[in-house]
Order: sequence, then structure tokens, then C-alpha cells
Amino acid sequence: FFVPEIIEKKRNGGKLSGEEIRYLIEGYVRGEIPDYQVSAFLMAVYFRGMDEEETTELTMAMARSGEMVDLSAIEGVKVDKHSSGGIADTTTLVLLPLAASAGVKIAKLSGRGLGHTGGTIDKLESIPGFRTELSKDEFVRIVNEAGAAITGQSKDLVPADKKLYALRDVTATVDSIPLIAASIMSKKIAGGADRIVLDVKFGGGAFMKRYEDALELARIMVNIGKLAGRQTVAYVTDMDQPLGLAIGNGIEVIEAAETLKGRGHKDLLNLCLELGSEMMLLAGVEKDKEKARKKLLENIRSGKALEKFKEIVRRQGGDPDALEDYSLLPRARFSRGVEAREDGCIEKIDALRLGLTAMKLGAGRQKKDDAIDHSVGIWLCGKVGDGVEKGKPLAVIYANDEEKLQWAAEEVRGAFRITREKVETRRVIRARVT
Ligand code: URA
Ligand code: CA
Repeated sequence: FFVPEIIEKKRNGGKLSGEEIRYLIEGYVRGEIPDYQVSAFLMAVYFRGMDEEETTELTMAMARSGEMVDLSAIEGVKVDKHSSGGIADTTTLVLLPLAASAGVKIAKLSGRGLGHTGGTIDKLESIPGFRTELSKDEFVRIVNEAGAAITGQSKDLVPADKKLYALRDVTATVDSIPLIAASIMSKKIAGGADRIVLDVKFGGGAFMKRYEDALELARIMVNIGKLAGRQTVAYVTDMDQPLGLAIGNGIEVIEAAETLKGRGHKDLLNLCLELGSEMMLLAGVEKDKEKARKKLLENIRSGKALEKFKEIVRRQGGDPDALEDYSLLPRARFSRGVEAREDGCIEKIDALRLGLTAMKLGAGRQKKDDAIDHSVGIWLCGKVGDGVEKGKPLAVIYANDEEKLQWAAEEVRGAFRITREKVETRRVIRARVT
């Protein structure tokens, strides 16, 4: 093959063969094909797209570029859950113990947060002692004994995605549906799970701004999963406003614990019940969705789900008391409420603006190697459709810098749109794709 011919074919809207795609990806990972040629290729894909066959070939070529994790040492059906990224998306923290408490085996490889979206690994590291770099043996043992474990992705998991993602980031080719699908699914397939539940988000705080694009991404990923022999179910969910109420790291651990104690926001709880019951069906531990949901609710009521969270935390070296006594979590030096200036109803919450504000307070990274401040964040007092009263807080901000605290207050106020009219609440779950 000759790389310019592959680029030209895609540039002209042609269909690439599996051999051509593999040649390109393998050559790129080995360092034999330079960034500038792959940049041109990515831009051609951005404009011309890829059909499902090409996207699947790309996914598999990427998945095989590094270690293909073998989870066969874990008994039973392993189910993975993945979110395409969002704001106040505390789902994984709740779902991992919740589904595990109902008998689902979850071996979760997770990434760190980048930009305005948080990462589950970063959030869990708020818990004193919690280790997110488990050895393969520890990881397998904890899943076998506790039902769930979570560890950072090893350097060798899909090296093709690491290189391609960095290149996409600087060549304005991130928001391409086939490239996102291949990026996500290559990591899921290499991660070794048997079945996959995807939460594909759309709206202001998500990669996909439009519902239709998220639905298409969901369909393509479900199909890739099928072709790769990994049964996949995808949900398309609203990320036009934050999902839960907490945006940050330590405060999202608090929100997860509260949700497992039955005191979480109904949107977060409902999504966790839906995804959790889907995971139970996929794992084969329950056949009826309604029964599965009831079991999960029962495990929250009885405290079994919270106990499971504590068990996972303890087994990964963390202090489970932090899930009861929140003062054991990192605390910010300053906090303040952002008061509403008028009575009314919340019409819109700009999730992206809140995510970026939390990031700049220190909750997230602007660059890959930035350090995280686990104590800072934003706690919302309401969501779209909720009433607000003049002088009462819209949100509370936690910061370690007084200047940033005042700056963030203006950002947070600007992220809320208040109206005199009555506003409907937003539905979170919009589609289920199988
Ligand atoms: N998440 C990923 O892992 N990859 C993308 O390309 C977008 C979101
Ligand atoms: Ca978050």
C-alpha cells in the first residue's frame, strides 16, 4: 500500500478495505507513518465518514494495537458500562456497587477526566488511601470476591487510541461519529468484557450536541459490539444539564454515597436503576427488567448496595468510613452560595459552562498532566423545572482560592437561566438501542 493513495481514496469518498485500514493503523502505532499523513487521513474521514464495516475494521485494528485483556480468570459473565462523558455524571460510582450488590460481575477499566468532563478514577482518588492502579492479579481477585473492581487503563491498552486521540485533539477531528465510535469501542473490546452497556450522552455538556447524532453513534457502537461478538446495549441520555447535583470529585463521592443511601437526585437514581437492571439482564442474573429494578431498589433500602461500595473501597485500600463521615474527604477552604436574584423557575442550566468552571476551580485538567484538586466543585440546588426564590441559593461553590471563588460565582450565575413561566422537567432517558 501507498499511504497517499489510501488518503486519496477516502478523500474522494471511497470505501477502504480492512487491509488498508490495518496497514495505516499498524504503521502509525509503529511510528512508520508520520502524524501529517494520519492528520490528513483523519480529516478525510471527518468529511467523508466511514460505513459500519470500515468503522468496525478501524475499531478492531485499534483494539489489537496493544494488550487484549483476558478476563477469563473471572468467573461468570463480565459486564462493562461506559459513558461517553458528561457533567456531574456520577453514574459509575453508584452503578458499580449497586449492580455488584445484585450479582453482576464488573471489571471496570476507567480513564481519567479530560477537559470539562470528570473521570471516575479521579473521583475515587478523593477517598483516602484508595488505589486505582491495581495489578492484574489484584483486579481479578477483587472482582471474583467482591463482584466489582475498578482500575486505571494500563499504558498498553489501545495505544492506537492514545496516539490518534492526541492527534484528533489538535487537528479538529474529535467530533466525528466513526472516530468516536472506534475510540470508545476499541477500548471496550480490548478491555475484555463479555457484554457492554453504553450511556451515550447528548446536549450542551456532551460530545454529541444533537440527539440524532447521539442516536446514530449509539446504533453504530451497538453494531460494532455485535460484529465483535460482544453483546452491547446503548442508552441515549440527556446531558443538556448536569445529571446529578454535584460537579467535582470528592463531592461526587458524597453524592454517590447519598444515592446509595436512598437520598440521591431522582434523575441520577433512575438512570442507575435503568442501566443497573439492564446489566443484570445482560449478566443473566435476572430475566425480568421490572424485577431487576425492584431488586436494586431493595438493595438500596436494605443498605446492601452501600455496604458493597464500602467493601470495594476497603479492598482497594481506601477508608470506607469516608462514605459515612464526609469530613474524611478532602475539604475546600472556602465556600459560598450563589443566590437567585429573582423568583421564578429554572429554564436552562448550561452544563458545559459549569463543567468548565469546575475544571478551572481545579476539579479537572486542562492539560493531560495537570494535578486535580479533589476538594473543589459545585453543588447545584436545583435542576430544570425547579422553582427558585430570590435570595435562596442556586448552587454552592467550593474553592481553595478566594479570587476564583468570586469569579466562579459569576460563571455559575450565568449558567442558570430563570424564567417567570412554569417549565417542564427534562426527561433523562431518550432511547434504548439494541
Ligand atoms: N470518548 C472516547 O473515549 N473517545 C472519543 O473519541 C470520544 C469520547
Ligand atoms: Ca463531573
